[in-house]
Amino acid sequence: TDPILVAELASRMAFKSAQVVQKLFEMGMPTTVNESVDADTAVLIVEEFGHKAKIINAAAVEDVLVEDVSEDSPEDLEPRPPVVVVMGHVDHGKTSILDALRKANVADGEAGGITQHIGAYMVKLEGGERVVFVDTPGHEAFTGLRARGASMTDVAVLVVAADDGVMPQTVEALNHARAAGVPIIVAMNKMDKEGADPEKVMRQLAEHEVIPEEWGGNTMFVPVSAHTGLGLDDLLEMLALQTEILELKANPQRRGKGIVVESRLDRGRGPVATVLVQNGTFNQGDTVVVGSATGRLRAIVDENSVQHRTAGPSIPFELLGLDSVPEAGQEIFAVENEKQARDIVRYRKDMEREQGAEAKKRASLDELFANM
Ligand code: GTP
Ligand code: MG
Repeated sequence: TDPILVAELASRMAFKSAQVVQKLFEMGMPTTVNESVDADTAVLIVEEFGHKAKIINAAAVEDVLVEDVSEDSPEDLEPRPPVVVVMGHVDHGKTSILDALRKANVADGEAGGITQHIGAYMVKLEGGERVVFVDTPGHEAFTGLRARGASMTDVAVLVVAADDGVMPQTVEALNHARAAGVPIIVAMNKMDKEGADPEKVMRQLAEHEVIPEEWGGNTMFVPVSAHTGLGLDDLLEMLALQTEILELKANPQRRGKGIVVESRLDRGRGPVATVLVQNGTFNQGDTVVVGSATGRLRAIVDENSVQHRTAGPSIPFELLGLDSVPEAGQEIFAVENEKQARDIVRYRKDMEREQGAEAKKRASLDELFANM
C-alpha cells in the first residue's frame, strides 16, 4: 500500500503533527511532518493514539488514511489558482479592495461595514486567470481567524491605510503571515486621501524587517486606492508574478479534501459551511466528514449562488447537507461511502470523549492541589 505523509496522518486523526512526530520518535522511527510513513507504521500509530481497545473499526479508518491520503504522483499534478489572504488593521480597506477587484458590493452589505466573518471568493482576471481571495476581519477580537486565514493561503496581501500607517493588527497580521511562511505583498491603501504617506508606511514596516524592493529588500509595496481604483492593476500584476514563482499544483483526480473557512446554522437550509478545496475534487453527492460531522454533499454553491456539480483545487464553495455545524478551520474530506463516514465519526467521538475525560481528571487533580 501507499505511504502517507505524517502531517496528513495527524490531521486525519485530529491530532497535532508534533504529537505524531514525537510518537514516531519514541517508537524509534524519527520522521519529520513532511515525510511519509508506510501503511503498517500508520496503522501502528493510529492504534497508539486510539488507545487500542477504543478503535471501533481500525480498518475503516486505515482505509481513509492509507488510500485517500497517499502522496500525489507528479504526473497527476495540475496547476491550481492561487489562494490569497487579505489581512490588516480594522477599517484599512481590505473588503473595499476585494470589492473593487471583483466589482461587487460586499462592503456595503455588511453589518456596519465591519467584516464579521472570513469570506472566500474567486475572481477571474482579464487574462482569464483565476485568483481566490480570502477576506479576514481586522478587528482585534479575530486573532484566530487571521491566523487561520494566513495558514490556508499561498500569498498574503497586507493592507495598510496610507493615511493611518502601521497599527497593532497590521503587525499581528504580519506575524501570522510570517508564521505561515507565505510571501507578503503590501498594499498601501487610501492613497486618494489627504495625508496619505506611503513613505511612512514603508519606514514603519522596515522597522519590522519588511523591506521594500526599492530599498534593497525583497517585499513588493504597491500604493492603491480602493475608491479611485489606483494601483489595483499593479496589485493584480504583482500577485500574478508572485504566484507564478510558486508554481502551485494539485491533483484534481483524487477525492476532495478542504478546509472549513466559515460555518453557520441557516434557518432554512440547515448547517452551511464555506469550504476551500485544498486538493482533489468534491462532487455533488459525495459523502464527507468534517470533525465529527458528516453528510452527503447536497449542493455545491458558489459565491454568486450558482450551483455546481464539482469543485476542484483552490475553489471556495458553500456546502449544504451536513448533519451538524462544523467548526471553522476544520479539515473536510470526501470518503468512500456512508459506512466509512460513520466509522470515522464514531472513532472521533470516542476520542473526544476520552480526551474530555482526561481533561476532567486533570482539572480535578489541579483543583485538589490548589486546595491543599
Ligand atoms: P474590517 O473588515 O472591519 O477590518 O475593515 P476593512 O479593512 O475591510 O475596511 P473596509 O473595506 O470596510 O473600509 C473601511 C472604510 O474605509 C470604509 O468607509 C471605506 O469606504 C473606506 N475606504 C476603503 N478604501 C478606501 C480608499 O481607498 N479610499 C478612501 N478614501 N476610503 C477608503
Ligand atoms: Mg472587511
